[in-house]
Amino acid sequence: MKLPDGPKTPPLLQTIQWILNPLETMERSAEKYGDVFTLPVGLNFRPLVFVSHPQAMQEVLDSKQFEAPGELNAIFTPLLGQQSLISLSGDRHRRERQLLLPPFHGERMRAYGKIVCDLARQVMNEAASTYGDRSFSMRSQMQKISLAVILKAVFGINEGQRYQQLEKLLTEILDLTGSPVRASLLFFPWMQKDLGAWSPWGSFLHKERLINELIYSEIRERRENLDPSRTDILSLLLSARDDRGEGLTDVELRDELMTLLVAGHETTASGLAWAFYWIHKLPEVRQKLMAELDSLGEASGDGAIMKLPYLNAVCCETLRIYPVGMITFPRVPKVPVNLMDYQIEPGAIVLGSIYLTHHRSDLYPEPSRFRPERFLERQFSAYEYLPFGGGSRRCIGMAFAQFEMKLVLATILSEWELGLADARPVRPARRGLTLSPAGGVKMAIKGRRSPHSAAAATDSLAAI
Ligand code: HEM
Repeated sequence: MKLPDGPKTPPLLQTIQWILNPLETMERSAEKYGDVFTLPVGLNFRPLVFVSHPQAMQEVLDSKQFEAPGELNAIFTPLLGQQSLISLSGDRHRRERQLLLPPFHGERMRAYGKIVCDLARQVMNEAASTYGDRSFSMRSQMQKISLAVILKAVFGINEGQRYQQLEKLLTEILDLTGSPVRASLLFFPWMQKDLGAWSPWGSFLHKERLINELIYSEIRERRENLDPSRTDILSLLLSARDDRGEGLTDVELRDELMTLLVAGHETTASGLAWAFYWIHKLPEVRQKLMAELDSLGEASGDGAIMKLPYLNAVCCETLRIYPVGMITFPRVPKVPVNLMDYQIEPGAIVLGSIYLTHHRSDLYPEPSRFRPERFLERQFSAYEYLPFGGGSRRCIGMAFAQFEMKLVLATILSEWELGLADARPVRPARRGLTLSPAGGVKMAIKGRRSPHSAAAATDSLAAI
């Protein structure tokens, strides 16, 4: 099958470049080959066609001529399992999405507002007493918040021994592939060998077994004591029935819970760490944002934070400049299609490069500059700005992640005076399959903000 042109470097070398430096690999290929190019960097060096033009994005993500088979997401199965939403296809995938989407939207999502704000306060208070004025990784603090929030949403718990063990093990297992070099483990199946608890894969499997034991124990207990009044996602999944009246098996439940736990906190934590970085890197951004947050009066009412235009622009620009999900999941054409004058045959695997679309200078002048104002000056279509992908696999946590990011930023910025601990620019780096700030953004607490401005903002938070 003829595929669009791409670099001629041997596939192994290109895959190593892709693992170590994904942004540069995409940028260099786009400079040389344009809007559509091929890189053999999939599992087992399968060639992948990258697209970035909004017109191609629309075609690939939303036309009936493409589908998004779960089998192509095999890179996720060691951790998330074969019954994960990410591994499912067709009708089963569609049904499961319909089940999982509602808890992350509307009223049910807003019910988590107070929990998010309380957890943000708790984590920052702990950071203040642990570190004083010494520096700490902002990403790690953000991960504590986002993990606690998603555990609460998924299980309805975020305290007790089982919760603490899950929190620790999930953080550890994700750290195992948390650097560009360690992420190789995911890309090269031949590295996935259990050579004892000290080997990388042995350690991965050991931690996974412990996580599974905890999740299966929770499932067992909850099956035995079904409580119809509970609104957490496990309760929802336990009572779900298919057309034949069958419920989900324990393995199906485990894979779905694991998917939500992992996808639902890693990404948001990185997004938040980036936001804190840019806000403190650029004084004019911080100044404008603080003026907006401090202007919130007591009578501002529910949802006032969600409507703040500059806060929204800061969050959008954060996820534009370094999108945590750099690429979409793979899509394949069902019939021969014409993409930007390239004939793409069934069997080809196509990815949307979210990063390249977000760095097109025809859409975003000076694309490497952090400038939230661009989101106040114009509206971008769903194929020009797509940090959460699109179409049949669009992120189910999109509204939830934006909600959480805004609340955490508003709570912490209103109450604490923070600063970057290192003046050097923070670079993006691969973390597993996502993009994260290298080093986690080192910050330090300078003090509490004056009670006047903090009180005004937090009163309105509590009302959400
Ligand atoms: C800033 C935070 C987040 C970012 C940037 C992000 C980004 C993405 C992207 C790019 C995709 C692929 C979409 C596609 O291929 O079209 C995706 C899918 C997904 N995301 Fe997120 N995500 C975030 C937060 C969340 C949260 C909070 C949850 C859970 C509540 C979540 C759960 C998922 C799931 C389950 C999928 C797979 C959907 C499917 O296969 O149908 N994500 N996300």
